Amino acid sequence: MGLFSNKKLLVGVTGGIAAYKTCELVRELRKEEAEVQIVMTKAAQKFVAPLTFETLSDREVLVEMFPQSKSVATRHVDVAQWADCFVVCPATANILGKVAAGIADDLLSTMIMVAGGEKTIFCPAMNSNMYANPIVQRNIETLQRLGYSFVSPEWGELACHAEGLGRLASLERILGKIKHQLLGSEELKGVRVLVTAGPTQEPIDPVRFITNASSGKMGFALAEAAAIRGAEVTLISGPTNLRPSEDIHFREVRTTEQMYEAVHEVYPNTDVVIMAAAVSDYRPSVYSEHKLKKSDNSIVLTLEKNPDILASLGKNKNGRILVGFAVETTDELKHGKQKLKAKNLDLIVVNNPKQRGAGFATDTNVVTIIDRQQHVESLPKLSKPEVAQHILNRIVELIFEAKSKK
Ligand code: CTP
Repeated sequence: MGLFSNKKLLVGVTGGIAAYKTCELVRELRKEEAEVQIVMTKAAQKFVAPLTFETLSDREVLVEMFPQSKSVATRHVDVAQWADCFVVCPATANILGKVAAGIADDLLSTMIMVAGGEKTIFCPAMNSNMYANPIVQRNIETLQRLGYSFVSPEWGELACHAEGLGRLASLERILGKIKHQLLGSEELKGVRVLVTAGPTQEPIDPVRFITNASSGKMGFALAEAAAIRGAEVTLISGPTNLRPSEDIHFREVRTTEQMYEAVHEVYPNTDVVIMAAAVSDYRPSVYSEHKLKKSDNSIVLTLEKNPDILASLGKNKNGRILVGFAVETTDELKHGKQKLKAKNLDLIVVNNPKQRGAGFATDTNVVTIIDRQQHVESLPKLSKPEVAQHILNRIVELIFEAKSKK
């Protein structure tokens, strides 16, 4: 099941060059199993053909208020009410002005009028002079006051080749906002959660390193899941291709030692730690400043031990909740239980990357969660965001238990 399965999204596309990025947004939403209905303005069709959106969303694209041949008398009302969330992406100065002024003169603006502020998110994108124009700023303020949400544009190179503030927000930020709108809760409000993710890299020379196949997907999914539940989340990750949503404090590190330092810096102000990172246990004893040259002989690489980050946290727990992961290819439960005890954890999430649909670079995982009472919960193959929800449910139970003991 995807993150947005059973969720209905209306995506309004207005006439700006950033409309091509909305295609990618729709793909991501569909990947997470959202139902997506696209509404385009006439100008938007100058930038992207409706057929593109139709193909991506698997639905007819709506444009006309009064299409010939169909009886659609209350469609603008029905579709706007059908949606759980209405994202206007990109939102031009024109649509912001129209909605702020109460104008509903085409299908999209009429639907926004029906949907109202609570479920509508604007993602403005325009030239920086237009964005800075006090009229646009006034309209944004008006809409914000009325409860409309915004994903503010970013600084960068614009379509007119100038640099400035006006570029459409990153996909991650837009998706993060949608997640909050659709799935957000306050369950973990006030709880400080530290998540680690990804692999670590141990350099051998300037161009070579030791690492593992971790993609970071599990750790990132956990960080997002905790943030959606209202936690204050710090994510410390080794090198990955992923970026978290903007409400997550994000630090990227490279080596195990750097991760150790970063984790210990945050640890005093943390209530829950989830160590999902696939940490390298060893590093080359000697780092060569210059690229190692080949010779006719074989070479020996001597490795020395890295610190065990999680074990070091377990020695100074002070009421914190510690969750570890264990990658095991044999005797999963036995080794998982041993690690839980040895590292003084509250939960350990065991997975065997040799199992189908489990492990590092996949979108799914097959895990078993073991707690301090040695209770074993085996989950079926699930998407990583779903696995994250299960782990978070267990953490919420532990927080609740700890509070009721106080
Ligand atoms: N871990 C850590 N620091 C390390 C190694 C592992 O904090 N140097 C953490 C991992 O993030 C994970 C847990 O410890 O949450 C277990 O990691 P795993 O690699 O399965 O076990 P190891 O303790 O490294 O033991 P082994 O590799 O021998 O199975």
